[in-house]
Amino acid sequence: MEKFYLTTPIYYVNARPHLGHTYTTVVADTIARYKRMRGYDVVFLTGTDEHGQKVERSAKAAGLDPQRFADQISAEYRRLWEELDLKHDRFIRTTELRHERAVHRLLHLAKDNGYIYKGSYQGQYCVFDELYVDDPTPDAPCPECGRPTEHIREENYFFKLSAFQDRLLDHYEKHPEFVQPETRRNEVIAFVRGGLRDLSVSRTTLKWGIPWPGDEKHVFYVWYDALTSYMSGIGYGDDELQWEKYWPADLHLIGKEILRFHAVYWPAFLMAAGEPLPKTIFAHGWWLFEQQKMSKSRGNIQLPQPIARVLGVDALRYFLLREMVFGQDGNFSREALINRYNSDLANGLGNLASRTLTMIDRYFAGEVPAPTGTKTPRDETVEARAVRDIGTCLIQYDQLAFSPALVTVWGLIAEVDKYLVLQQPWALAEDPSQRDRLATVLYTAAEALRAGHSHGRLHAFRDSLQGMVHSPEQTREIEHLSELGLLCVECSLAREAHARSFRRSLHAWRRSRSACSKSSIARWLGMQ
Ligand code: MSP
Repeated sequence: MEKFYLTTPIYYVNARPHLGHTYTTVVADTIARYKRMRGYDVVFLTGTDEHGQKVERSAKAAGLDPQRFADQISAEYRRLWEELDLKHDRFIRTTELRHERAVHRLLHLAKDNGYIYKGSYQGQYCVFDELYVDDPTPDAPCPECGRPTEHIREENYFFKLSAFQDRLLDHYEKHPEFVQPETRRNEVIAFVRGGLRDLSVSRTTLKWGIPWPGDEKHVFYVWYDALTSYMSGIGYGDDELQWEKYWPADLHLIGKEILRFHAVYWPAFLMAAGEPLPKTIFAHGWWLFEQQKMSKSRGNIQLPQPIARVLGVDALRYFLLREMVFGQDGNFSREALINRYNSDLANGLGNLASRTLTMIDRYFAGEVPAPTGTKTPRDETVEARAVRDIGTCLIQYDQLAFSPALVTVWGLIAEVDKYLVLQQPWALAEDPSQRDRLATVLYTAAEALRAGHSHGRLHAFRDSLQGMVHSPEQTREIEHLSELGLLCVECSLAREAHARSFRRSLHAWRRSRSACSKSSIARWLGMQ
């Protein structure tokens, strides 16, 4: 079985998780589920980045020792992912001993290869981004976040980043898929072409970090520490079999503000140690709130919990994937969220599914009927459309084009809706001689819905619809999912379980159907 290893950034524990962190994790979860469905052996890693000056200061401000502070926020991240049904396979904390061992190992290899030396750093530093800033002017603004930088002067260990300029450029050239999207790749190439200075990889003016081996007044620079979590999380220096099976990572998903660390420093650290490089780094855009990046310090964050609690996890997921063009910035607004919910979920999908399932319940006692009537060209058009749309959707998921993939699925929903309006099953039900025709129409509608939904990435909905297929193995096989004619109509053994899961689906659809009143939801969402 082919493996697929993907990661989110390892989130800082200086503050509570918000919608921005949720976004990357939802995208990772979506890709992980998609790849699993296509038969890959998937490992999805996330975790928390717990060292460094920023966390040390936040803990102090909260009156807690950094470890206790990190324990609390790290637990909060885990609880959130559980609440949102985001299923990571591994979770790494940078304060774990197995992680420290991995960092030491990576350093030893780089050191043995001659890429580490002792020196001293004098210059500006941005604590918010944990970034050394080239501009030596006192109080120079950070090029990433614009906050004032601080002057530091320290004895440090240095990493010979300058030695990697040509090798990095060569790698970007030979592997155009290494940094995506293209605009970000161009930015990285321009940055590296501009020249690379050696990078300080230890700090002496703070204590909250992994101790430097053999020189304990130094701790590791937080980015050297954090990036290594992508390897420690799958056993680097600890469980070799696991590490060899899954490394290199197939995909690091990140936000665009941490591109330089991932696309320049990280491959250089790995080259220095002689370890293989990840295959792709994809930097997505930001969720903005009134045109500004969401962040705690700006006080403009949206928490995901109220959305999930009021509208459900599927609605949150659908909104995030549908509304943002992956790779670009997107503007969050409660108005847009509620409009999407009402038009696409409650009225579009919810209404159609509820109607179809209600009729199956009423006219066929909750069992999907066998398509006993002769197929008409209309039935065949819907079938052909479902097959075509699913094919398109798979290509779009492979390209990480989430929003277009959902547009494709919703196009199929509209087609099925039109089909029902034309076929008028409610009228067919009035005429006993049309019983076979009624069965075929409802079968075709339910099957097109199921096939579309397996690709809608709304997992609660999808699971309930897939419950209507009798073999759980079948539901996991993409080839089968993409075919039509799967609904369990002739398996008598599964009839009872099938009817039960059918009723559950019906219930879910009914719930999803009730449209939200904008004012009540907006009030709720405001209560954070
Ligand atoms: N700890 C570092 C990452 C180390 S990875 C080895 C870090 N942590 S963070 O908590 O600041 O998380 C940043 C990431 O969260 C972004 O790169 C992005 O994935 C996600 N987002 C945080 N705010 C965001 C938005 N407003 N919009 C979209 N994603 C955002 O950086």
